[in-house]
Amino acid sequence: MQKWTVANQKGGVGKTTTVITLAGLLAEAGQRVLMVDMDPQASLTQYLGQNCELPHLFGLFRDRQDLNAERVRQTLVTLPWVGMSLLAASPLLATVEKLGAQQGGMGMGKVLGDILQMLENDFDRVLIDTSPTLGVLLVNALACADRLILPVQTEFLALKGLERMLRTLGMVMRSQQRDLPYMILPTLYDKRTLASQQCLQQLRQTYGEAVATVVIGIDTRFRDASQAGVPPSLFGAHSRGVQAYREWLQQQGELP
Ligand SMILES: Nc1ncnc2c1ncn2[C@@H]1O[C@H](COP(=O)(O)OP(=O)(O)O)[C@@H](O)[C@H]1O
Ligand SMILES: [Mg+2]
Repeated sequence: MQKWTVANQKGGVGKTTTVITLAGLLAEAGQRVLMVDMDPQASLTQYLGQNCELPHLFGLFRDRQDLNAERVRQTLVTLPWVGMSLLAASPLLATVEKLGAQQGGMGMGKVLGDILQMLENDFDRVLIDTSPTLGVLLVNALACADRLILPVQTEFLALKGLERMLRTLGMVMRSQQRDLPYMILPTLYDKRTLASQQCLQQLRQTYGEAVATVVIGIDTRFRDASQAGVPPSLFGAHSRGVQAYREWLQQQGELP
Protein backbone atom coordinates (compact mmCIF):
# COMPACT_ATOMS: atom_id res chain seq x y z
CA MET A 1 0.00 0.00 0.00
CA GLN A 2 1.78 3.09 -1.29
CA LYS A 3 1.07 6.35 0.50
CA TRP A 4 1.35 9.63 -1.37
CA THR A 5 0.94 12.92 0.46
CA VAL A 6 -0.02 16.04 -1.45
CA ALA A 7 1.18 19.15 0.35
CA ASN A 8 2.08 22.80 0.06
CA GLN A 9 1.98 25.42 2.80
CA LYS A 10 0.04 27.67 0.48
CA GLY A 11 -3.67 27.44 -0.21
CA GLY A 12 -5.36 27.40 -3.60
CA VAL A 13 -2.48 25.73 -5.46
CA GLY A 14 -4.39 22.61 -6.50
CA LYS A 15 -3.71 20.16 -3.67
CA THR A 16 -7.28 18.94 -3.31
CA THR A 17 -7.75 18.88 -7.08
CA THR A 18 -4.58 16.80 -7.45
CA VAL A 19 -5.74 14.28 -4.82
CA ILE A 20 -9.15 13.69 -6.34
CA THR A 21 -7.96 13.64 -9.93
CA LEU A 22 -5.17 11.15 -9.24
CA ALA A 23 -7.54 9.07 -7.10
CA GLY A 24 -10.09 8.87 -9.92
CA LEU A 25 -7.48 7.91 -12.50
CA LEU A 26 -5.87 5.22 -10.32
CA ALA A 27 -9.26 3.77 -9.37
CA GLU A 28 -10.22 3.65 -13.03
CA ALA A 29 -7.04 1.63 -13.62
CA GLY A 30 -8.25 -0.94 -11.09
CA GLN A 31 -6.53 0.19 -7.90
CA ARG A 32 -8.28 0.29 -4.54
CA VAL A 33 -7.76 3.91 -3.58
CA LEU A 34 -8.22 5.56 -0.20
CA MET A 35 -8.31 9.35 0.03
CA VAL A 36 -7.55 10.87 3.42
CA ASP A 37 -8.74 14.40 4.13
CA MET A 38 -6.36 15.85 6.72
CA ASP A 39 -7.56 19.43 6.21
CA PRO A 40 -9.89 20.80 8.94
CA GLN A 41 -11.45 22.93 6.20
CA ALA A 42 -12.68 19.62 4.79
CA SER A 43 -12.71 20.78 1.16
CA LEU A 44 -12.19 17.28 -0.19
CA THR A 45 -14.89 15.85 2.10
CA GLN A 46 -17.36 18.50 0.97
CA TYR A 47 -16.35 18.11 -2.67
CA LEU A 48 -17.31 14.45 -2.34
CA GLY A 49 -20.68 15.35 -0.85
CA GLN A 50 -19.93 13.96 2.59
CA ASN A 51 -21.11 15.33 5.91
CA CYS A 52 -18.22 16.99 7.72
CA GLU A 53 -20.21 17.41 10.94
CA LEU A 54 -19.45 13.82 11.96
CA PRO A 55 -16.13 13.22 13.77
CA HIS A 56 -14.73 10.75 11.17
CA LEU A 57 -10.95 10.94 11.15
CA PHE A 58 -10.95 13.18 14.22
CA GLY A 59 -12.62 10.36 16.16
CA LEU A 60 -9.72 8.08 15.30
CA PHE A 61 -7.20 10.65 16.50
CA ARG A 62 -9.19 11.13 19.70
CA ASP A 63 -9.47 7.39 20.37
CA ARG A 64 -5.95 6.62 19.11
CA GLN A 65 -5.07 4.60 22.19
CA ASP A 66 -7.67 1.92 21.57
CA LEU A 67 -7.98 1.52 17.85
CA ASN A 68 -8.33 -1.68 15.89
CA ALA A 69 -8.81 -2.44 12.23
CA GLU A 70 -12.55 -2.95 12.65
CA ARG A 71 -13.02 0.47 14.20
CA VAL A 72 -10.94 2.10 11.47
CA ARG A 73 -12.90 0.31 8.72
CA GLN A 74 -16.19 1.49 10.21
CA THR A 75 -14.99 5.07 9.88
CA LEU A 76 -14.32 4.76 6.13
CA VAL A 77 -16.79 6.23 3.67
CA THR A 78 -17.30 4.07 0.58
CA LEU A 79 -17.85 6.44 -2.33
CA PRO A 80 -20.27 5.78 -5.19
CA TRP A 81 -17.40 5.20 -7.66
CA VAL A 82 -15.68 1.86 -7.99
CA GLY A 83 -12.45 1.58 -6.00
CA MET A 84 -12.73 4.89 -4.16
CA SER A 85 -13.02 5.38 -0.39
CA LEU A 86 -12.54 8.32 1.94
CA LEU A 87 -11.42 9.00 5.47
CA ALA A 88 -13.36 12.21 5.92
CA ALA A 89 -12.38 15.42 7.69
CA SER A 90 -14.35 17.63 10.03
CA PRO A 91 -13.53 21.07 11.47
CA LEU A 92 -12.83 19.28 14.76
CA LEU A 93 -9.54 18.11 13.23
CA ALA A 94 -8.20 21.57 14.01
CA THR A 95 -8.29 20.59 17.70
CA VAL A 96 -5.97 17.59 17.24
CA GLU A 97 -3.20 19.95 18.26
CA LYS A 98 -4.79 20.19 21.72
CA LEU A 99 -5.10 16.41 22.10
CA GLY A 100 -1.34 16.31 21.76
CA ALA A 101 -0.74 19.15 24.18
CA GLN A 102 -2.57 17.23 26.91
CA GLN A 103 0.14 14.60 26.68
CA GLY A 104 3.00 16.98 26.16
CA GLY A 105 2.82 16.27 22.42
CA MET A 106 4.13 12.76 22.95
CA GLY A 107 3.58 10.27 20.17
CA MET A 108 1.24 12.52 18.19
CA GLY A 109 3.36 12.56 15.04
CA LYS A 110 2.61 9.06 13.84
CA VAL A 111 -1.08 8.56 14.57
CA LEU A 112 -2.07 8.62 10.90
CA GLY A 113 0.68 6.14 10.09
CA ASP A 114 -0.70 3.76 12.74
CA ILE A 115 -4.26 4.16 11.41
CA LEU A 116 -3.21 3.44 7.84
CA GLN A 117 -1.15 0.45 8.85
CA MET A 118 -4.40 -1.22 9.92
CA LEU A 119 -5.68 -0.86 6.34
CA GLU A 120 -2.54 -2.26 4.76
CA ASN A 121 -4.44 -5.08 3.02
CA ASP A 122 -7.54 -3.10 2.12
CA PHE A 123 -6.05 -0.60 -0.33
CA ASP A 124 -3.38 -0.37 -3.00
CA ARG A 125 -2.93 3.38 -2.76
CA VAL A 126 -3.51 6.12 -0.24
CA LEU A 127 -3.68 9.76 -1.29
CA ILE A 128 -3.47 12.22 1.58
CA ASP A 129 -4.77 15.78 1.24
CA THR A 130 -3.35 18.34 3.67
CA SER A 131 -3.94 21.79 5.06
CA PRO A 132 -1.49 24.64 4.39
CA THR A 133 -1.00 25.12 8.13
CA LEU A 134 2.17 23.75 9.65
CA GLY A 135 1.08 21.69 12.62
CA VAL A 136 0.62 18.20 13.91
CA LEU A 137 -1.73 17.23 11.04
CA LEU A 138 0.76 18.15 8.35
CA VAL A 139 3.57 16.46 10.26
CA ASN A 140 1.46 13.26 10.47
CA ALA A 141 0.81 13.36 6.73
CA LEU A 142 4.50 13.83 5.91
CA ALA A 143 5.74 11.31 8.45
CA CYS A 144 3.76 8.39 7.04
CA ALA A 145 4.26 9.17 3.34
CA ASP A 146 6.24 7.05 0.91
CA ARG A 147 6.27 9.94 -1.48
CA LEU A 148 5.39 13.60 -1.58
CA ILE A 149 3.70 15.55 -4.36
CA LEU A 150 4.05 19.32 -4.12
CA PRO A 151 1.65 21.16 -6.42
CA VAL A 152 3.04 24.64 -7.07
CA GLN A 153 1.05 27.33 -8.77
CA THR A 154 3.13 28.92 -11.51
CA GLU A 155 3.29 32.43 -10.07
CA PHE A 156 6.07 34.13 -8.16
CA LEU A 157 4.50 34.28 -4.72
CA ALA A 158 4.12 30.52 -4.88
CA LEU A 159 7.89 30.04 -4.96
CA LYS A 160 8.13 31.43 -1.41
CA GLY A 161 5.49 28.95 -0.27
CA LEU A 162 7.51 26.16 -1.82
CA GLU A 163 10.67 27.21 0.04
CA ARG A 164 8.73 27.12 3.30
CA MET A 165 7.34 23.70 2.45
CA LEU A 166 10.80 22.31 1.67
CA ARG A 167 12.14 23.60 5.00
CA THR A 168 9.33 21.76 6.79
CA LEU A 169 10.08 18.65 4.79
CA GLY A 170 13.76 18.89 5.72
CA MET A 171 12.81 19.09 9.38
CA VAL A 172 10.59 15.99 9.20
CA MET A 173 13.24 14.02 7.28
CA ARG A 174 15.92 14.93 9.83
CA SER A 175 13.75 13.91 12.75
CA GLN A 176 12.89 10.61 11.04
CA GLN A 177 16.40 10.10 9.67
CA ARG A 178 15.13 9.10 6.27
CA ASP A 179 14.78 10.48 2.76
CA LEU A 180 11.32 11.28 1.51
CA PRO A 181 11.25 11.53 -2.28
CA TYR A 182 9.27 14.48 -3.55
CA MET A 183 8.14 15.85 -6.87
CA ILE A 184 7.11 19.39 -7.67
CA LEU A 185 4.07 19.51 -9.92
CA PRO A 186 3.52 22.89 -11.62
CA THR A 187 -0.19 23.74 -11.61
CA LEU A 188 -2.59 26.43 -12.83
CA TYR A 189 -0.19 27.13 -15.65
CA ASP A 190 -1.38 29.76 -18.12
CA LYS A 191 0.80 29.42 -21.18
CA ARG A 192 -0.39 32.80 -22.52
CA THR A 193 1.14 34.79 -19.68
CA LEU A 194 4.79 35.71 -19.37
CA ALA A 195 4.51 35.42 -15.58
CA SER A 196 3.56 31.74 -15.80
CA GLN A 197 6.33 31.01 -18.30
CA GLN A 198 9.01 32.79 -16.26
CA CYS A 199 7.91 31.14 -13.07
CA LEU A 200 8.08 27.70 -14.65
CA GLN A 201 11.54 28.47 -15.98
CA GLN A 202 12.70 29.56 -12.53
CA LEU A 203 11.23 26.43 -10.94
CA ARG A 204 13.16 24.26 -13.37
CA GLN A 205 16.39 26.22 -12.87
CA THR A 206 16.17 26.03 -9.10
CA TYR A 207 14.81 22.53 -8.54
CA GLY A 208 15.85 20.71 -11.73
CA GLU A 209 14.83 17.08 -11.88
CA ALA A 210 12.50 17.46 -8.91
CA VAL A 211 10.10 19.35 -11.18
CA ALA A 212 7.71 17.20 -13.19
CA THR A 213 8.07 17.54 -16.95
CA VAL A 214 4.30 17.51 -17.19
CA VAL A 215 2.61 20.81 -16.35
CA ILE A 216 -1.01 21.10 -15.26
CA GLY A 217 -2.59 23.94 -17.22
CA ILE A 218 -5.57 26.06 -16.24
CA ASP A 219 -8.72 24.16 -17.08
CA THR A 220 -12.15 25.39 -16.01
CA ARG A 221 -13.47 21.83 -16.10
CA PHE A 222 -11.86 21.25 -12.68
CA ARG A 223 -14.14 23.85 -11.12
CA ASP A 224 -17.14 22.40 -12.96
CA ALA A 225 -16.28 18.91 -11.71
CA SER A 226 -16.04 20.14 -8.12
CA GLN A 227 -19.39 21.88 -8.41
CA ALA A 228 -20.88 18.65 -9.70
CA GLY A 229 -19.18 16.71 -6.88
CA VAL A 230 -17.68 14.23 -9.33
CA PRO A 231 -13.99 13.24 -9.74
CA PRO A 232 -12.59 15.19 -12.71
CA SER A 233 -11.55 11.95 -14.43
CA LEU A 234 -15.22 10.92 -14.57
CA PHE A 235 -16.58 14.38 -15.29
CA GLY A 236 -14.35 15.40 -18.17
CA ALA A 237 -12.30 12.30 -18.87
CA HIS A 238 -10.66 13.85 -21.92
CA SER A 239 -10.33 17.42 -20.76
CA ARG A 240 -6.84 18.86 -21.08
CA GLY A 241 -6.35 19.09 -17.32
CA VAL A 242 -7.24 15.46 -16.64
CA GLN A 243 -5.11 14.43 -19.61
CA ALA A 244 -2.11 16.19 -18.04
CA TYR A 245 -2.54 14.32 -14.74
CA ARG A 246 -2.92 11.06 -16.69
CA GLU A 247 0.29 11.77 -18.56
CA TRP A 248 2.09 12.45 -15.29
CA LEU A 249 0.91 9.11 -13.89
CA GLN A 250 2.08 7.39 -17.06
CA GLN A 251 5.53 8.94 -16.64
CA GLN A 252 5.61 7.59 -13.10
CA GLY A 253 4.88 4.13 -14.48
CA GLU A 254 1.54 4.10 -12.65
CA LEU A 255 -0.67 3.87 -15.72
CA PRO A 256 -0.14 1.98 -18.98
N1 LIG B 1 -5.50 23.25 -13.16
C1 LIG B 1 -6.54 24.00 -12.71
N2 LIG B 1 -7.20 24.80 -13.58
C2 LIG B 1 -8.24 25.57 -13.15
N3 LIG B 1 -8.70 25.57 -11.91
C3 LIG B 1 -8.07 24.80 -11.00
C4 LIG B 1 -6.98 23.96 -11.35
N4 LIG B 1 -6.57 23.31 -10.24
C5 LIG B 1 -7.37 23.72 -9.25
N5 LIG B 1 -8.28 24.59 -9.70
C6 LIG B 1 -9.31 25.30 -8.93
O1 LIG B 1 -8.64 26.20 -8.05
C7 LIG B 1 -9.26 26.23 -6.77
C8 LIG B 1 -8.26 25.81 -5.70
O2 LIG B 1 -7.85 24.46 -5.96
P1 LIG B 1 -7.69 23.41 -4.77
O3 LIG B 1 -7.36 22.12 -5.40
O4 LIG B 1 -8.87 23.46 -3.87
O5 LIG B 1 -6.40 24.01 -4.05
P2 LIG B 1 -5.83 23.71 -2.56
O6 LIG B 1 -6.35 22.38 -2.13
O7 LIG B 1 -4.35 23.76 -2.72
O8 LIG B 1 -6.32 24.82 -1.70
C9 LIG B 1 -10.47 25.29 -6.88
O9 LIG B 1 -11.62 26.06 -7.18
C10 LIG B 1 -10.12 24.38 -8.06
O10 LIG B 1 -11.28 23.92 -8.73
MG1 LIG C 1 -7.38 21.88 -0.40
